[in-house]
Amino acid sequence: MEEELQSLRAEAEAALAAVSGPADLEAFRVEYLGRKGRFSGLMRLLGQASTEERPRLGKLANEVKAVVEGLFNARKEELEGALPAASPVGDLTLPGRRRPAGGIHPVTQVMDEVCAIFVGLGFAVAEGPDVETDFYNFEALNIPPHHPARAMHDTFYVDEGRLLRTHTSPMQIRAMEQASPPLRMIAPGKVYRCDSDITHTPMFHQVEGFMVDRKVSFADLKGVLSVFITRMFDAQTPIRFRPSFFPFTEPSAEVDIGCVICGGKGCRVCKQTGWLEILGAGMIDPAVFAKVGYDAEQYSGFAFGLGIERIAMLRYGIGDIRLFYENDLRFLAQF
Ligand code: DAH
Repeated sequence: MEEELQSLRAEAEAALAAVSGPADLEAFRVEYLGRKGRFSGLMRLLGQASTEERPRLGKLANEVKAVVEGLFNARKEELEGALPAASPVGDLTLPGRRRPAGGIHPVTQVMDEVCAIFVGLGFAVAEGPDVETDFYNFEALNIPPHHPARAMHDTFYVDEGRLLRTHTSPMQIRAMEQASPPLRMIAPGKVYRCDSDITHTPMFHQVEGFMVDRKVSFADLKGVLSVFITRMFDAQTPIRFRPSFFPFTEPSAEVDIGCVICGGKGCRVCKQTGWLEILGAGMIDPAVFAKVGYDAEQYSGFAFGLGIERIAMLRYGIGDIRLFYENDLRFLAQF
């Protein structure tokens, strides 16, 4: 009897494993667990066991039956799909989980676009240090100590003589120190100013550009910047060069484009002027050439500097620069 119980259990287990659908399952139930099934048959044989043996065998029979019933129920749930298949890795029939895709930050996107336009015009790309010396950031750019232009740069000082660069212009000096003309280069990177409101963040990005050769003229500057602006915005964008002042260029200009928000009619963004300033530029001052040992009689050059966040704000109609740095995915995922 004991042996028969064990072999019935083994047979039932094998039969259950072979069950592949509800019909099979019902046939199994009738054959093994039904009223006239094989378990009931064995139970009936219990009557023939000796009085001493009967309690032990009865208990064993009940245990075996409970095990088989448990297996039966598990298989039933499995087939009904009520529970995921008992696989250590979960239900392999479920669709896969997608990895959330990251994106390129809008400031980086605009930076890459700006660089690509100038690279297309034959400019090389160079990067320099964020921690600069007073010499490169100011002195060599014709901004001596106590020059009023220093007041416009709210500088973060690291220590005596070292600071976080307030613009990318120091790369003009670094590049000219290391090479002789002809030179055609852009220098993208982070710059820092102690300033924070809806149009300023303490860290932002600029691209500096400069070209030095014999006979480089203001017309070359206008040509290069016009190509840049029409590629960056659109071919019909009006462009205006407005006289300005920078210590490191002479003459200097600020470049405006027709307001991309109102189309030049006048709005809050362009302060009713119809124009938006997008960059500073000019012919490199001979005083700067003197600092790097270039002969201003032989060479001339132009330089320009533009703010990436400003261009990104105009391009996408963003009113608050701080949105770029709050890392709110609802904002960032739109680009
Ligand atoms: N460095 C200036 C700034 O951060 C921008 C600039 C103006 C750069 C004129 C130039 C330039 O190269 O020619 O405000």
